[in-house]
Amino acid sequence: MYLFIYLFIICLGTNINDPVLHAVDMLNTAKKNNIVPDNSASMIILLTDGDPNVGESREDKIQENVQNAIGGNMTLFCLGFGYDVHYGFLDVMAKENNGLARRIYEASDAVLQLQGFYNEVANVLLSNVDFHYPDDVVNSVTDSHFKQLFNGSEIVVAGRLNDIEMNDFPIEVLAQSLDNEFVLKGQASAQDWNVIFPDQEYIFGDFTERLWAYLTIQNLLDKKEKGSPEEKQNATAEALELSLKYNFVTPLTSMVVTKPETEGNPEDALIADKLTEDQRRDVPQIPSTSYTHRTYTSSPVNWVDSDPHFIIEFPDQNDTLCFNVNDKPGTIFNLIKDPLTGITVNGQTIGDKKIDPDKTMNTYFGRFGIIHAKFGIRLVVTTQDILVSEKGKLAKLFWSDNTSIKGPNMDLQVAKDRSLTVTLRNSMKFVIVLHKVWKNHPYHQDYLGFYTLDSHLFSQRVHGLLGQFFHGVTFEVSNVFQGEDPDKPDANMFVKGHNLTVTRGWQRDFRKDVKKGENVPCWFIHNNGTGLIDGVIGDYIVSGLFKTT
Ligand SMILES: *[C@@H]1O[C@H](CO)[C@@H](O)[C@H](O)[C@H]1NC(C)=O
Ligand SMILES: *[C@@H]1O[C@H](CO)[C@@H](O)[C@H](O)[C@H]1NC(C)=O
Ligand SMILES: *[C@@H]1O[C@H](CO)[C@@H](O)[C@H](O)[C@H]1NC(C)=O
Ligand SMILES: *[C@@H]1O[C@H](CO)[C@@H](O)[C@H](O)[C@H]1NC(C)=O
Ligand SMILES: *[C@@H]1O[C@H](CO)[C@@H](O)[C@H](O)[C@H]1NC(C)=O
Ligand SMILES: *[C@@H]1O[C@H](CO)[C@@H](O)[C@H](O)[C@H]1NC(C)=O
Ligand SMILES: *[C@@H]1O[C@H](CO)[C@@H](O)[C@H](O)[C@H]1NC(C)=O
Repeated sequence: MYLFIYLFIICLGTNINDPVLHAVDMLNTAKKNNIVPDNSASMIILLTDGDPNVGESREDKIQENVQNAIGGNMTLFCLGFGYDVHYGFLDVMAKENNGLARRIYEASDAVLQLQGFYNEVANVLLSNVDFHYPDDVVNSVTDSHFKQLFNGSEIVVAGRLNDIEMNDFPIEVLAQSLDNEFVLKGQASAQDWNVIFPDQEYIFGDFTERLWAYLTIQNLLDKKEKGSPEEKQNATAEALELSLKYNFVTPLTSMVVTKPETEGNPEDALIADKLTEDQRRDVPQIPSTSYTHRTYTSSPVNWVDSDPHFIIEFPDQNDTLCFNVNDKPGTIFNLIKDPLTGITVNGQTIGDKKIDPDKTMNTYFGRFGIIHAKFGIRLVVTTQDILVSEKGKLAKLFWSDNTSIKGPNMDLQVAKDRSLTVTLRNSMKFVIVLHKVWKNHPYHQDYLGFYTLDSHLFSQRVHGLLGQFFHGVTFEVSNVFQGEDPDKPDANMFVKGHNLTVTRGWQRDFRKDVKKGENVPCWFIHNNGTGLIDGVIGDYIVSGLFKTT
């Protein structure tokens, strides 16, 4: 599918008008006399190193003459050498004639730059490529006509489906190849990006949508260069609006980079380790209160830490519930999901570095993903770093410094190698605790704990492994009796319509002392919290760090 290309390369000082018109003439004559094949792609490459000052020197007049002469039948490429050229003028003229402009820098590799440009445009595979979509299926489609498809380049067209359910529609691509008309007909189906790249979480939001926005902005910027004054004005306004909405830096916008304030002097890395067997044998006392019916409606402190233990503490009542969740490393659990406030918190587990064959694999949370949809905030917290994007602006923080960032809707505070405190305005406050393990530890690796400090502003529909307890839970403990473990009494707990056998145990709260933690006695609900949590643990497994299903 090669096409012949005839290149007319004109070297000139500063007369641009006449040589280009002359080149157009030569190509037209060659066509008329059948010197070139009918289907050849006609391209003109203009090389210049100065502003026009010989012959026609008015730039807008030259553009007009060239556009009229070419009449959409040829492609014009402009190569500007050095810094004396008026590059903007060349760029506009090339775009008006379906081509593009390049600056060639006067450096030792100028030959390579020229060669590179030639390689890009030398092999035209198709010309006049048109993508057709049914009008009633799509809208806001980006440019779908392309003068040429070069070997090694690609063409991307993006648009919106009118109906998200509409997932199978005809498309047609028409183009001209050297020998014949190229026609491609097929059925298109909207590809789920998550299926193509299941492991790619894109922190800025939907990739396809941003690709569409990017192409649309490019199209509008091109329109801003050509077209009538009104079209230019409209295109500029639209491009600006989209650039701001999707946070693209364009000639119409600017980027402000802020450096987070850091403070402090180096401090030895904090080394914490998992609990030893001796610590585990410490058994807390059962409070002497008799357990009767209790309904807790105050906002509890909920957290998940260690291998992962979920703890629901009612600070005023001296009563705490806890359960463990076991699954293979890599599993992502939904911890909080509130459709009304638009907040989602998910956590992904990691395992130990290695396990003894006769022991079960412990898992810990190693990565949290937090979304505040209304504020356009996304956070990814790992044991290495903290990535935060607010309305598309991205910042990366490390655990190695005391750092704080204040935004309109979010405050972040990193306490070096210890914790990250996040306050989302009028929404929630939480702390993520970093457990640093000695780096040569044979089994364990660094992991994270998540503590909600203020959850009272969540809606009544908040759910998730932690979220479902934000507005309290009613339970009754009775009949404390000797369990399997002589040191740990069992009891009956009646909760959410289930009569469960629970065991007195304890967990640790690492908010104040990240190394040792503080003992918190609690009633342990067996089997991944079955009976206490709504549904089964599998209901809380989600497919991605920012997913709710
Ligand atoms: C462009 O090509 C068309 C079709 O071949 C022809 O009718 C038209 O005159 C050409 N325009 C110019 C400016 O040569
Ligand atoms: C396209 O370019 C590649 C690599 O340069 C080359 O191998 C291939 O043959 C070219 N294809 C066509 C159709 O020109
Ligand atoms: C420019 O925008 C105005 C207001 O949206 C619209 O009425 C007008 O038709 C647009 N003009 C062009 C040339 O697109
Ligand atoms: C970081 O802040 C904590 C208090 O939050 C302070 O104790 C510590 O000294 C600070 N570290 C550095 C390196 O400044
Ligand atoms: C909680 O425990 C403390 C000390 O153990 C006690 O003073 C207080 O009365 C207890 N509160 C309730 C609600 O049981
Ligand atoms: C739940 O607990 C059981 C027993 O501890 C365990 O085998 C299982 O893998 C856990 N996870 C799920 C998702 O059921
Ligand atoms: C729960 O079951 C135990 C025995 O299995 C029983 O003694 C207790 O009364 C039950 N509690 C409730 C609230 O049904």
